Amino acid sequence: MADQMSNPTTIEERAKALLQEMTLTEKIGQMCQLNASEGYAPDYLAGDIQSGRLGSVLNVVEVNVVNELQRIAVDESRLGIPLLVGRDVIHGFKTIMPIPLGQAASGNPDSVREGARVGALEAATTGVNWTFAPMIDISRDARWGRIAESLGECVLLTSELAVAMVEGFQSDDLSEPGAIAACAKHFAGYGAVESGRDYATTNIPETKLRNVYLRPFHAAINAGVSTLMTSFSDLNGVPATGNEFLLRQVLRDEWEFDGFVVSDWDSIRQLQVHGLTENDKESAFEAVTAGVDMEMAGDAYSSHLAELVEEGRVSISGIDTAVMNVLRTKIRLGLFEKPFTDPDELPPIANGWAMETAKLAALQSVVMLKNNHAVLPLSADKLDSVAVIGPLADAPYQQLGTWIFDGDVDLSVTPMHAIHSLVGSDVDVRYVRAMENSRSKVSAAFDDALEIARDSDVTILFLGEESILSGEAHSRADINLPGDQAELVRRIREAGKPVVAVIQAGRPLTLTNIVDQVDAILYAWHPGTMGGPAIAELLFGIESPSGKLPATFPRMVGQIPIYYSQKNSGKPPSWDNVAHIDNIDSRAPQTSLGMAAFHLDTCFTPLFAFGHGLSYAAFDYQHIRASSHQIRLGNTVTISAELTNNGNVAADEVVQLYVRDLVANVTRPVKELKGFRRVHVEPGETVMVEFQLHTDDLSFYGRNMQRVTEPGEFHAWIGGSSETQLKTEFRIVDST
Ligand code: NOJ
Repeated sequence: MADQMSNPTTIEERAKALLQEMTLTEKIGQMCQLNASEGYAPDYLAGDIQSGRLGSVLNVVEVNVVNELQRIAVDESRLGIPLLVGRDVIHGFKTIMPIPLGQAASGNPDSVREGARVGALEAATTGVNWTFAPMIDISRDARWGRIAESLGECVLLTSELAVAMVEGFQSDDLSEPGAIAACAKHFAGYGAVESGRDYATTNIPETKLRNVYLRPFHAAINAGVSTLMTSFSDLNGVPATGNEFLLRQVLRDEWEFDGFVVSDWDSIRQLQVHGLTENDKESAFEAVTAGVDMEMAGDAYSSHLAELVEEGRVSISGIDTAVMNVLRTKIRLGLFEKPFTDPDELPPIANGWAMETAKLAALQSVVMLKNNHAVLPLSADKLDSVAVIGPLADAPYQQLGTWIFDGDVDLSVTPMHAIHSLVGSDVDVRYVRAMENSRSKVSAAFDDALEIARDSDVTILFLGEESILSGEAHSRADINLPGDQAELVRRIREAGKPVVAVIQAGRPLTLTNIVDQVDAILYAWHPGTMGGPAIAELLFGIESPSGKLPATFPRMVGQIPIYYSQKNSGKPPSWDNVAHIDNIDSRAPQTSLGMAAFHLDTCFTPLFAFGHGLSYAAFDYQHIRASSHQIRLGNTVTISAELTNNGNVAADEVVQLYVRDLVANVTRPVKELKGFRRVHVEPGETVMVEFQLHTDDLSFYGRNMQRVTEPGEFHAWIGGSSETQLKTEFRIVDST
């Protein structure tokens, strides 16, 4: 290791001292990352690492190989700078948590933090020291496959859970064993891709960008996230990977981020495909000028940066800034002190704590959408037989969801197995898969399924979509249950027995065509390794469902984008002013119809609202109050309500606080989540739930792009979903 590392003490001094020793080639090397999964990694990469031409690799997860690569970097390169080793550890490594969208349904930052911690510790056993998570793109389009990886549609929920994930991955101190650098992605606006087609264009006005899409990133940066990844998408005509406004003005000048920015996979060279540049050299120029510090899996930087510097088009100080950003992260990770990994110094993979964390996360992520006549929970004592039907009852790989490169399918416990072990020999569990997979259109086995449904006391239908139907590059234009699943539901209904649907999916599906055909629905997302036991315990009432929807469920795809924090418009729809295509008088003048913002052929409300989720307890909210009805700017108001459990079982409830700013210089959403808290309530118990709201929490970017809280009237609601009507009011007044 170079001598200069021994004297300087602060991170900044250490990075600067190292920078001073570096040649241009070595500097550019720190800005390059290559894929190591191709071929035998050390042979393939050794030359570049030895000559200081490579600062990072991704997709190598064999500890011996990683250690060998680090050895080459530390012992054989001139300055001995260790490598960043990146991997997509998105919702677990070997032990898989629910998909992030499912984790968001838990409304529980503690379990999200713990889940990330499990992933970090397991990944770290291989020498991985950097994950490409959290993915915090606000997602309001269920067609988009990547909604599965996101934390949903809500700014506050995404921001708070983003912070929890960063804390989980990075721990208090990045140099601790098992802490890995996090990467907030994709900066920025990716969730707004047109018609939910992955990689498509985004057009986002600056106020919306700042008030919605950028806020989770700012929260992650304030929580100390080490790195950011650019988005593949084009933002208002300038692809994010070449977007100086995002990467310099907002990220560096306004937010003072001092970590580094990595491109997405080959997204620098894709600037040419977008039509922004003529060739790779110009792409390298645009990206480096905009502020991309490291190129992932491409060669635009390694091939062209030196030339651009020699030509004077890219300044050496620009290169130095990028390299400093990378070196700071390497120093913070403690890589210079400890470049090698000994897996025995870390907890074993898939240990009891990891599996318990995965189970709790799955339990809290499942959302009970409906439960007619309290058909759930099932009682093993009262049932003789249960029919388990459907393509996802016993699908150990599918329940893990998207982005599980390293997930261990052998650890998966499926619902089918978990139900068997939960009810033991007391209940006869019959199983017919009925469909090869969720997309199947072969109904030959439906008769067998109907037969066991007829012979059983209750049917549990395991429906949904396989993991391959969501995630990157897996968007759908039709988000109904795929294949012949709706027909399967219709056939099973013929048995005349109660039907419970358990749906596993990577997105909100449109359930309009089955919702009235089943008595209860548990929406389980892709629940991960321990999804089976969690689902079984919820079905049989060992635990009460407590998940709440992190994204609105449309009735039909044409309602998209539909989300709870919409603007009011000048003509908001209400039950009095809408018409339906089936009822309209074809000879009536146009003005006799409701002149409001609605569709003629569906209802203006969603099928299930953001924040919705039922429980086996009976929760009742009462007595909302504001601690003061007049608050001076700069002060705090407490909004509280009483929550009573009138049911017979103890349960968790995720209590939600919403606010509306009635008048502002730019129009504000009809409701914005401003607080949420998971509370445990015993039967008969009443708890007081309080939220502190500082006037800064009500700020927004207005017409002049300055963040402001405007005095005026506010409404606040507390309840168990975004449809809560329990309201109070307060007024913010000037501090003078
Ligand atoms: C492309 C994806 O967009 C990004 O999220 C991921 O981290 C990288 N590939 C690396 O696998």
